[in-house]
Amino acid sequence: MGEREGYSGAQIALHWSIAGLILFNYLYSDGMGRAFDASLEGGSPVNPEINPSIHVWVGVAVLVLVLLRFLVRARSGVPAAAGAGAMRHAAHWGHRLLYALMVLVPALGAVTWFGGIEATADLHSLLANALMIVAGGHAAIALFHHFVLRDRVIVRMLRAR
Ligand code: HEM
Ligand code: HEM
Repeated sequence: MGEREGYSGAQIALHWSIAGLILFNYLYSDGMGRAFDASLEGGSPVNPEINPSIHVWVGVAVLVLVLLRFLVRARSGVPAAAGAGAMRHAAHWGHRLLYALMVLVPALGAVTWFGGIEATADLHSLLANALMIVAGGHAAIALFHHFVLRDRVIVRMLRAR
């Protein structure tokens, strides 16, 4: 994988649109368990809490955009993780963990929903919670860089280079 000075405009657009859609789907998920049970029993999955099609298709969009992001990343490369030594190592593995969860969460949702498989339902919800915790830590670290360390890490994800 190549290395460059900053993220491209496409990478920045993908980062923020994926983050927004993940947050939306996390907040718009109450009632999905009930919707899934109803669809397994052959009834209508729509219930007063949720229109499951919205959760399902926003989630599928996340999966497609993450795969697109890998393609863009492979073609245009990424800047080296910020910092040095152990910090750089931590950023590198933190981002890998985020990517793994960004694929696993919607993929497990799709296996559950389209496959009608109950066994993956809880893991989907559990990993969605893990994703929000890791992404929350990630956002907190980004803000720490900006307001405490006063470096340009956030600017890297705002301005294309
Ligand atoms: C980034 C994407 C996603 C996030 C953050 C997310 C988040 C969540 C959360 C937090 C729940 C638990 C809701 C609750 O029971 O209170 C849930 C449930 C569920 N989601 Fe997703 N989801 C995503 C993508 C998907 C996709 C792509 C599908 C299907 C194609 C899907 C299908 C389901 C189903 C079927 C359940 C119910 C599981 C159960 O029976 O407990 N999700 N999701
Ligand atoms: C669900 C929410 C989010 C997810 C899944 C996510 C995911 C990621 C991933 C995987 C990377 C690594 C990019 C790469 O090198 O290929 C990244 C970079 C970055 N993210 Fe996020 N992010 C989220 C939200 C946020 C938020 C809210 C902020 C700011 C407050 C933020 C700030 C950054 C910054 C500054 C970088 C660049 C780090 C660097 O240059 O080394 N992210 N994000």
